[in-house]
Amino acid sequence: MTDALPLALNDGSTLPPIGFGTYPLTGEEGTAAILSAIEVGYRLLDTAVNYGNEAEVGEAIRRSGVPREELTVCTKLPGRHHGFDDAVRSSLGSLERLGIDQIDLHLIHWPNPRHDRYAEAWRALVHLQEEGLVRSIGVSNFTASQLHRIIEETGVTPAVNQLELHPYFPQAEMRAVNRSLGIQTESWSPLGKRQAPFSEPPVAAAAEAHGVTPAQVILRWQLQLGAVPIPKSAAPERQRLNLDVFGFALSEAEVEAISALARADGRLFGGDPDTHEEM
Ligand SMILES: NC(=O)c1ccc[n+]([C@@H]2O[C@H](COP(=O)([O-])OP(=O)(O)OC[C@H]3O[C@@H](n4cnc5c(N)ncnc54)[C@H](OP(=O)(O)O)[C@@H]3O)[C@@H](O)[C@H]2O)c1
Repeated sequence: MTDALPLALNDGSTLPPIGFGTYPLTGEEGTAAILSAIEVGYRLLDTAVNYGNEAEVGEAIRRSGVPREELTVCTKLPGRHHGFDDAVRSSLGSLERLGIDQIDLHLIHWPNPRHDRYAEAWRALVHLQEEGLVRSIGVSNFTASQLHRIIEETGVTPAVNQLELHPYFPQAEMRAVNRSLGIQTESWSPLGKRQAPFSEPPVAAAAEAHGVTPAQVILRWQLQLGAVPIPKSAAPERQRLNLDVFGFALSEAEVEAISALARADGRLFGGDPDTHEEM
């Protein structure tokens, strides 16, 4: 059974097996929701420059009283900061807003291939890691060819590739690519967000069989695929339930039945990394 122990990354550091997504939690309400997530036990917090809530994440960390070294803070470099110097400045800005002196995991948010500067952004993250301002570096929404390019150009393999991954879009191919390169897959919109497939028969049947909620089934499916899900919830009770996924295991048949919900057009908003632009 997958347990709650941290996962080993390819750079020698570790990642909690499940994290908390903080988009779109902002302001005092947002801080309260992020604080509640830390209090119920989340130790990986996922933010981004473009979420506009790094200050709220930093404030929640300070209010929680949880020792800094017990928390893994992940933030993301936006498309408009892909130039080398811009990326370094962006990272320093994130550190300041978060109120911390090292980013635990820094990801390139989207490759934005039309602008073709993601390899430069990757060189900046490699530099920031060498300087000790960032512990682990990775990417988000990268395709196989984009991964190969940055690895060939720098000799440094991302520790993490954070992908859209949920029952309607299980990313079998990209999970295999990540695995073959020694890259840990993280799942964004792990519950499927707007199309939350809670009532799909394989999800509902597994929930009934194990006496858990459909959301817990989907998050458990994520763990058994080898992915690190980062569910967002503003509600403390749902935050707690989403974290409580280590006391049961899905059978191989249940995992396969949920994966079979895959749809060719399963992306939530058409975010194809080869064409999607997010600056
Ligand atoms: N790298 C990227 O490009 C990228 C893109 C998108 C998102 N992300 C990250 O991924 C995180 C998670 O993705 P997401 O927020 O899009 O989707 P998600 O976590 O799949 O779903 C969040 C939605 O599900 C609801 N929910 C959560 N737990 C529930 C439960 N147990 N039962 C019923 N409903 C539940 C939440 O409502 P309540 O709040 O009311 O509970 C919210 O509306 C984001 O916060 C962000 O950090 C990254």
